[in-house]
Amino acid sequence: MAKVSVFGLGKVGHTLAACLGAAGHQVVCYDVNRALVDAVNGRSLHTQEKGVAERLAGLGSDRLRATSDAREAVHQSDLTFVIVPTPSNMLGGFSLKYVLDAFRTIGAAIRDKEGPHSVSLVSTVLPGSSDRFIGPALEEASGRRIGHGLQYSYNPAFIALGEVVKGFEQPDYVLIGEASSPGDALVGQVHQAMLRNNAPIVRMKAVEAEITKIASNTHETMRVAFANMLLSLCNEMPTTDVDRITGALSHRIGKRFFKGAMPYGGPCWPRDNKALAVLVEAIGGTSALLRAVDDSNDEHGAYVFRKLLDITRPGDTVGILGLAYKPGTQVIERSYSVDLTRWLVAEGRRVVGWDPMAMDEVRAVLSNQIAFADGPAEVLKACDVTVVAMPLPELAEIDWTVAGDRVVVDCWRCVPEGARTRLKNYQALGHGDEVPLGPWIADRLGNRFDVLCN
Ligand SMILES: NC(=O)c1ccc[n+]([C@@H]2O[C@H](COP(=O)([O-])OP(=O)(O)OC[C@H]3O[C@@H](n4cnc5c(N)ncnc54)[C@H](O)[C@@H]3O)[C@@H](O)[C@H]2O)c1
Repeated sequence: MAKVSVFGLGKVGHTLAACLGAAGHQVVCYDVNRALVDAVNGRSLHTQEKGVAERLAGLGSDRLRATSDAREAVHQSDLTFVIVPTPSNMLGGFSLKYVLDAFRTIGAAIRDKEGPHSVSLVSTVLPGSSDRFIGPALEEASGRRIGHGLQYSYNPAFIALGEVVKGFEQPDYVLIGEASSPGDALVGQVHQAMLRNNAPIVRMKAVEAEITKIASNTHETMRVAFANMLLSLCNEMPTTDVDRITGALSHRIGKRFFKGAMPYGGPCWPRDNKALAVLVEAIGGTSALLRAVDDSNDEHGAYVFRKLLDITRPGDTVGILGLAYKPGTQVIERSYSVDLTRWLVAEGRRVVGWDPMAMDEVRAVLSNQIAFADGPAEVLKACDVTVVAMPLPELAEIDWTVAGDRVVVDCWRCVPEGARTRLKNYQALGHGDEVPLGPWIADRLGNRFDVLCN
């Protein structure tokens, strides 16, 4: 087993540390935030990630501990993982400020360390960052050359908040971007011990791994936007059901991230799309697709909003079930539900919100604009229209009949089949009206359709 240090104990870093420790590695953690260091040592870390508390509790301080001494963390390990913020900047790129601070600190510690040392960056960066800035900063601070007593790899995580443990222990694949040839065997061995599945380890150049990481997210947004386009088509076209269409397509093109529903949001997808677009543009490549995906996402958000305006009036009460950007998290960054709430309030609707995890976060930004319910049943009883904005597992068990003859708009078609039939006014977004299609086309499109088929 290896001696490993982890720089950065945030949402991803503390989970990586716990998984490394559970895999049998000897782990020393470091963070500039002393409270996090103390919380890790006291095993009192506040975490939203399933499986982290159990893993930490099962590890003695001889296996996992934290320190506020960066030099000590480096000196007591052979490999350092770095997972610090890379915030988006005004131009849409990713700032390396925190990464470079961490690498200079690590490099300075390596300078007087005996034996080789490996550094592996997990944070999301703009492609080219390792070659242009990070590798040189590490070499300068350490006084060593990569490949000579010093190894560097770019080693991004393909994780989803709420399931970060799974992302590290059961990933689809492990990606290692290498800065030298031969690359760093240690980082692969450390991952191998953490794996609970047969995920392949894929090696490539650092810049290729940087591209792969962002491309993975941007491809997912493209699939979501495509499925959402189909949702709007089916919602308008009588007798059609978007799930039948995406379901059939899934046999050929896979079903992951392929459900027509709400616009995407959250802390990663929108910013990764933008960053790749600005980079591709800067180097003279073609970025239209990336921009189109984001435009389509915005258009879809406006579409869903319009549909709700169509069925409500100023003064009506609209309930929103699911306020975070996705189920299983308290994160509301770029949450469509929060945008939707603001727009509805601006159009004179009264909004009642509920979310199983993100109530405090939403209260902090919307407290005086909306009312908050204690549970979904209260929303159904209080609102003229309730929007199922997220496919929350909690909704499987509730008594939908409390809605009476009020409207329920199911954006995800996740209300259980049995409950749908008991609801008097259930509207599934993505299902066209059940009216004869031929006459509808003649009435709605008339000559325009005839010409299209001519
Ligand atoms: N959150 C996600 O879903 C997700 C998914 C994939 C990739 N990422 C990427 O992972 C990176 C980290 O994300 P996060 O959500 O864990 O961030 P976070 O803000 O939750 O945590 C970052 C931690 O780094 C610490 N830190 C800052 N500077 C440091 C330094 N010089 N030395 C040591 N620690 C330092 C901070 O105190 C903080 O605890 C980002 O680049 C992000 O894009 C995040």
